[in-house]
Amino acid sequence: MPSDEPFALIIFGASGDLTKRKLVPALWSLFQGRVLPEPFVILGVARSEMSDEDFRRRMREAVGEFARVQPPAAHVWERFASSLFYCPGDPADAALYDRLGARLRQLETDKGTGGNRLFYCSTPPSLYPAIVTRMGASGLQREGNGWTRVIIEKPFGRDVSSARELNRIVSRVFTEDQVYRIDHYLGKETVQNLLVFRFANGIFEPLWNRNHVNHVQITVAESLGVEGRGAYYEEAGALRDMIQNHILQLLCLVAMEPPVSFDADPVRDEKTKVLRAIRPIPPDGVDEVAVRGQYGPGFLEAHRVPGYRAEKGVAPDSRAETFAALKLFIDNWRWAGVPFYLRTGKRLPKRASEIAIQFWGTPHLLFRRPDPADRIDPNLLVVRIQPDEGIALTFGAKLPGPEINIRPVTMDFRYGASFGAEPPEAYERLLLDAIHGDATLYARSDWVDAAWQVLTPVLEAWGAGPAPKFPNYEAGTWGPAEADAFVERDGRRWHRP
Ligand SMILES: NC(=O)c1ccc[n+]([C@@H]2O[C@H](COP(=O)([O-])OP(=O)(O)OC[C@H]3O[C@@H](n4cnc5c(N)ncnc54)[C@H](OP(=O)(O)O)[C@@H]3O)[C@@H](O)[C@H]2O)c1
Repeated sequence: MPSDEPFALIIFGASGDLTKRKLVPALWSLFQGRVLPEPFVILGVARSEMSDEDFRRRMREAVGEFARVQPPAAHVWERFASSLFYCPGDPADAALYDRLGARLRQLETDKGTGGNRLFYCSTPPSLYPAIVTRMGASGLQREGNGWTRVIIEKPFGRDVSSARELNRIVSRVFTEDQVYRIDHYLGKETVQNLLVFRFANGIFEPLWNRNHVNHVQITVAESLGVEGRGAYYEEAGALRDMIQNHILQLLCLVAMEPPVSFDADPVRDEKTKVLRAIRPIPPDGVDEVAVRGQYGPGFLEAHRVPGYRAEKGVAPDSRAETFAALKLFIDNWRWAGVPFYLRTGKRLPKRASEIAIQFWGTPHLLFRRPDPADRIDPNLLVVRIQPDEGIALTFGAKLPGPEINIRPVTMDFRYGASFGAEPPEAYERLLLDAIHGDATLYARSDWVDAAWQVLTPVLEAWGAGPAPKFPNYEAGTWGPAEADAFVERDGRRWHRP
């Protein structure tokens, strides 16, 4: 059982979007579910001037708008809110840290949280080095008798060299076991269920290899555009924003070997081994394994939406990709020769994240087909990460009637229908794990480094070279035609979520 130690959570960037939409609503849901260790202190830090009361009011509104669980009664909220505090100051300013330390010590004494400290970097990523360095210089991370941990939001660097530099800075102040690099995809129930599905069931794992799997597709599709975050997206693009972290994490969970135990290091060792086995992309072969796109204006659910270049903060000749597709091979015994197709995009027809495992067809077709081109679809296993979380297995069944006509049908596990509840939010699980000191679902430095290495040839080729012919897909479609051609060349089709 995890220890139930009291703690103080210090959030840098607490006036921001993430704190109000995800972090405090998640902490509230944990508190309501009586799983948040008590006593606790949540201390927000940011430049905006606010009193404790202002911060509490703001968080009450945020919980009302975004939390999975609504406050049942005012006094329950008051009990939670009495542990919320705010310390105004610029995280880049060294002078803040003495003040912050004094406030923290006082709160720890008043609330009896025992010196256990969890810091959360939720500012723009350019500030992470300054925050970590200033924490180190002020000794904030060394005081107290309890444990100290730090959660670092994504993105962790923007390429191999910046990620290494950030790791170097962080490792001067914290040991690796104190550092929690968050990827909220790993907190999703269905993502964790992938490991349970693979390693707690006897019948799937024997099929989970090159002898039975034809190929794997991982899709993270968004119908939204950049939602006012154009300036951020101009610097990031789909490859950095989605593939380097979420999609490569999913790929690792699909492809990894069984770990020796479900503890942080054995699980993370296996995931890193997957990345190391990915066949390096040759710098002059990027076009054969990668496709990029950018949306122009189009229609979504009958509404006209603007193109990417018309979004706020986006350059009129932007070369940022809003769609990316990749084909990767994992050169090991289990997966030799099995392509993994990855794709993500904005302004696609629907929001859907899923993993499709396409099995091989039967070696011999027993049932005669009137039209030889009318083939029986091979089995398909689809893990739906969001929305409508679940797992579906498609197989051929006989259509009722005097003849043998075969149609694909689906066995469908739906999370909500089976367990009678919506899964908890990813941040709930991840925050609780960090409070308990379990880093299994957080990224280790070697994983982050290896993930950037996998993508480096694509990042370099796309960063240099002639300007791409953008926009090349209409909002509300499944990406550029090249993305379809790219899998059709291999005799395959994208699975439509
Ligand atoms: N929002 C999400 O859904 C989401 C999802 C995944 C990851 N993330 C990551 O989480 C982090 C936080 O996201 P966010 O959306 O909350 O960010 P944000 O709203 O842009 O920034 C958070 C806070 O940082 C402070 N800040 C901004 N610029 C600053 C500067 N130059 N100097 C000092 N403080 C500054 C601001 O507070 P003050 O102006 O009051 O100082 C702001 O409220 C980011 O790294 C983001 O990539 C966010």
